[in-house]
Amino acid sequence: MKARLIDRYFHFSIILLSVMAAFTSCTDDSGNMDISYVIGVAQANLSEPWREVMNAEILETGKNYPGVKIVFTNAGNSREKQEADIDKLVRSGIDLLIVSPVESQEIAPAIRETYHLMPVIVLDKAIEGYDYSLFIGADNELVGTQAARFVKEHIGEANGTVIEITGSAESLPVTRRMQGFRDELQGSENIELLGSFSADWLRDKAEDITGNNLDLFSRSDVIFAHNDAMAFGVYRALARAGITDKAIIGIDGLTGAEGGLALVEAGILEATITCPTGGREAVNRAMDILQKRDGLPKKIFLRSSLITRSILADQYSLPQRTDKRDPEDPVVLGFAQLGKESDWREANTKSVISAAKKSGITLLFEDADLNQEKQIAALRSFIDAEVDVIAFSPIVETGWDEVLYEAKAAGIPVICSDRTVKVADETLVTTYLVADFVEEGRRAAQWVLEETGDSRDVRIVEIGGLPGSAPAIDRRKGFAEMIERYPSHTIIDSDPGDFIENLGYNVMTKMLVRHPRIDVVYAHNDDMALGAIRAIEEAGLEPGKDILIISIDGVKAAFQAMKNGKLNCTVECSPLLGPQLMKAVLDYVNGEELPLRINTEEGVFPMDVARESIGSRSY
Ligand code: AHR
Repeated sequence: MKARLIDRYFHFSIILLSVMAAFTSCTDDSGNMDISYVIGVAQANLSEPWREVMNAEILETGKNYPGVKIVFTNAGNSREKQEADIDKLVRSGIDLLIVSPVESQEIAPAIRETYHLMPVIVLDKAIEGYDYSLFIGADNELVGTQAARFVKEHIGEANGTVIEITGSAESLPVTRRMQGFRDELQGSENIELLGSFSADWLRDKAEDITGNNLDLFSRSDVIFAHNDAMAFGVYRALARAGITDKAIIGIDGLTGAEGGLALVEAGILEATITCPTGGREAVNRAMDILQKRDGLPKKIFLRSSLITRSILADQYSLPQRTDKRDPEDPVVLGFAQLGKESDWREANTKSVISAAKKSGITLLFEDADLNQEKQIAALRSFIDAEVDVIAFSPIVETGWDEVLYEAKAAGIPVICSDRTVKVADETLVTTYLVADFVEEGRRAAQWVLEETGDSRDVRIVEIGGLPGSAPAIDRRKGFAEMIERYPSHTIIDSDPGDFIENLGYNVMTKMLVRHPRIDVVYAHNDDMALGAIRAIEEAGLEPGKDILIISIDGVKAAFQAMKNGKLNCTVECSPLLGPQLMKAVLDYVNGEELPLRINTEEGVFPMDVARESIGSRSY
């Protein structure tokens, strides 16, 4: 088992940091003379062991690509130095930049500038906006949630206390981890957070903090540190004071002498939550970008898992194929589509079918006709057929636990394509290949706010997607979150149109009767907006002028409506998920660990750019 974990969380006991003195050499890292690509890595610092592992993974993975040279810089945690490093790398003639930002927001302008010159992969700390090729990192909010779940389970029903030791106070991963931790603990009246201290990711600082606050620490049941190094520092201070009955939990799960896995195994830490560095993924994706492969995502969130001593000793809980498939056999994918409610869905179905064909994957395809029971039955039929991988586009978020447990018990991995699910055990889904629906809602709101400028009393109506579905829930959330900040703008009505054009028409017809004045229609998809346009015209009003209309998807019919001046804007949500899905299926079958979540690339298309872009729309 340990061997498998070590394999999973790949480590290097000797860290080979190749900080190249000059960038002019013509050999790659294996001494070949033929350099096709140079990748520059702007590392934030090397004082954290986690970052040393990241660099070592990058270097090691680079060796799989003959002709690739990797050059590293180390910013020593200084933003100015990292800006200078990026500049130096760019001037030296790199083809692609991988940057792990010192502080993401401050370094964002330098990243944006570089992105105009070459592809940029942002590792670990996300930056706002989309001015980069790809983001790869952990879902830090989920990491915080996982820590809180551990605390809840450890404390149980009794009253209990916890102390938190965070990384550098200003950093985004810290904010997200704190958020996830607190949200999950909310409502647990029996658990008291005794204190939260920042130890800047450093073991010795955590040790000092603990030593200086022994009174408080001795009253806590659990100590949650944002990395294993700090967790170890806490342990050392407590052990010196003879206190050994505390459950200490860290994050990272690195191997090596003071790595989290060894600390858990030795009983020093009660648990660690793995936080992959993304180094390997970054190099593999860099090569996909440089070689212009199909189906490139915008964001990849890596999987984090809770590791306790018993998990180390038992089975690792990710789904495993029970049979050894013959590599000569074709890969079989069972795909359960949810229906054909919209143009988007039809384009999605076509994309899946054609990508499967192109990749040589045998596809078992079922259409659930907008019926959850039928979709569950389709999943069961794939389990019976012993397919290699199951993928589905879940019609609603909840109600999947049972059938997904059945798939897990059969050793079949499940990929959620397009939409997310809410399940009690997150290992039931191997990966999510989805759009960021909350962000789509935010972008729609942003457009409304920009378009309506200083207007007062802007009345907005919302035509929602299918109730209970992830896009309907999240698009509503993202939109409302932004609009609610402006007292000048009000969502005066909201009704579902289930993503269906005719229902969009019906909802709009009723809203026009109910409200003497409507300024903006926000529809959760283009089809419903097209229905709303019909209703507005029938009411004798001019869509796009008397009432502004914004929707989501970016299908061809929406571009046509924009060209005709009837729709004002569409926020893209790409249905062309087939190539990325097939890549994930093949990666899995070839033994690669899939990330937790893959987000697709999307844009915003206002009316004035529709005319130029309509020709290039492929769905
Ligand atoms: O899940 C994606 C949504 O489902 C699309 O935006 C909508 O058109 C579709 O029916």
